[in-house]
Parts: sequence; C-alpha cells; structure tokens
Amino acid sequence: MVDAPSFIDDAVEEIDEQIGDANAVIALSGGVDSSVAAALAYRAIGDRLTPVYVDTGLMRKGETEQIRETFSYMDSLRIVEAQDRFLDALAGITDPEEKRHAIGERFIREFEREAISADADYLVQGTIYPDRIESEGNIKSHHNVGGLPEVVDFEGLVEPVRELYKDEVRDVARELGLEEIISERMPFPGPGLAIRVVGEVTREKVDIAREACHIVEEETAEHDPWQAFAAVVGKGTGVKGDNRVHGWIVSVRSVESRDGMTARAQELPWETLQRIQSRITGENENVARVVYDVTHKPPATIEYE
Ligand code: XMP
Repeated sequence: MVDAPSFIDDAVEEIDEQIGDANAVIALSGGVDSSVAAALAYRAIGDRLTPVYVDTGLMRKGETEQIRETFSYMDSLRIVEAQDRFLDALAGITDPEEKRHAIGERFIREFEREAISADADYLVQGTIYPDRIESEGNIKSHHNVGGLPEVVDFEGLVEPVRELYKDEVRDVARELGLEEIISERMPFPGPGLAIRVVGEVTREKVDIAREACHIVEEETAEHDPWQAFAAVVGKGTGVKGDNRVHGWIVSVRSVESRDGMTARAQELPWETLQRIQSRITGENENVARVVYDVTHKPPATIEYE
C-alpha cells in the first residue's frame, strides 16, 4: 500500500519540477483518478493549471453539478457543454470499438480547443497503473490513454498517479481531503454511458441507462460493491397495464474486484434485486424487463462493450 502523505509530498514536488513556470491542462472526468491528479497538480502550480470538464452528455446523473461544486475553489475550471456534438458524432455507429474511437476523437477536439486557449505546455492525466497494463495488452482501447491531442504541441505529459492502483488512489484522495463522493466513487468508464447502451447510442437509451445506473448505485450502496451499474442491452416483450409492449431490457451488474482486471459477480439479496427491478421498471415506462448478470470476469468483461 502507498504511504499517502509522503506520496503527496513527492508527487507535488515532482510536478512542480516538471512543469516549472509553464501552464498545464487536465481533463476532469468526475472520477477519483483525474480528481486526484488535478488536486496534486493544483497544489503544485495553482491557477496555472486549467482543469477542463467536457460534458459529453454520457456522464452519470448529477455529475456536472458535482464537478462544479467540488472544484469551485479552482478559478480556472472550465466546463464545456458538448452533449449534442457527442450524440452527433455517435449517430449510426454500433460497433463498440468504433464508438470508443468516435468518442475519443470528439473528446480530443473539444479538449484541444481549451488547451490552446489556456496556452498550455503540459498535459496532466489521471492514468493509473491498470489503465496502462490493459492498453499495452490491447484488451480494449482506453480513450484516456494514448489519445492525446496532436494539434497541441505539448512539451510533456504529467501522470502523477501512474504507478498506483485504484485503492491506493482512494487513499491519496482521502489524505488530500477530497469529498467522500469523489474518493469513494466507484469507477466509471471514460466513454461513459455510451458503452452501457449496447449498439447505437441514442438519447433515449442513454437517459434510461443514466437513471438505471443511479438506482443501482443507490440500492447496492449498503453492499459496498466495487462497481455496480445498469446497461440497456436490447429490447423484449413485456406487459404494461393491459398492453403488450416492446420495451427495453436493462441488465444490472454488481461486481467485487480489487483492480478491475478480474471480478466476481456479487451475490446480492433477492429483496435488493427486486427493489432495483421495481424502481427501474416503475420509473421508466419503456423498460419491460430487468435482468441480473451473474457472470464473472473472465469470461465476461465488467462493462458490456
Ligand atoms: P472491463 O469492461 O474491461 O472494465 O472489464 C474494467 C474496468 O475498466 C473500466 N473501463 C474503462 N475505463 N475507459 C476507461 O477509462 C474505457 O474505455 C473503459 N472501459 C472499461 C470499467 O468500468 C471497469 O472499471
């Protein structure tokens, strides 16, 4: 385990040395990794760091408001409203890797513009150890690794948490005094809800996934999963009122893990599963069916795409 206080001192010193008097940018995602990287970099260089949050429209419920609040102490925070541009970029794409690619591409363009206007020489990233391993092994293309803006001529890349595992990043977050909602937050994939709707990304599917993920997070909290969420996986028949409907199928997933590289499906109480089912079908009239995913990783991945 990492010794958080001395890690912080060393990281701040290292960032300070690397960036010197120059400016830097960081893309905030709302997750613990980028939040910790931002807090460390801010300690080192203050307002010469421009944190940029791109609202892709694929984020968790309440994420943008949360970011605004958590980082309100950073005057240089920028929030980019890009929801429509992301939906447009994803229209008609069904292949998972192509979806990731389209999102990565769009993200870079949004971020690039901000980096240029912030006159940034350095790019700070919240890449953690497992991200690098998975990307090197090509298990999937992580949109936050390797997809750097090419137009911006950065002098360097700063990755203060590159050697840490997720639970170590959480230790550092607590030590930095980041709010619990950030430090204890479960992982959320860079491409966001786009990979929690199987097939084409539409506003309807994303809205259902967002609400369902929120319900699953609330209802599973007392069982402390490593990650729990819902995904829209297809369509099926159901009965609502007196009518047969062709509605969405939502799959609920809750897993235990240390670092996301392997995971076990969590054994949740029947009552919890039923409450989740009843809330998801009750709050979304177009959801006809809720299923629980009992597959471990391997053979399944944690996310659906
Ligand atoms: P999988 O689905 O590969 O996920 O078993 C392992 C962990 O990684 C997260 N994940 C991603 N994170 N960009 C990210 O930043 C991605 O493209 C991505 N895909 C999956 C996933 O949520 C889980 O915690």
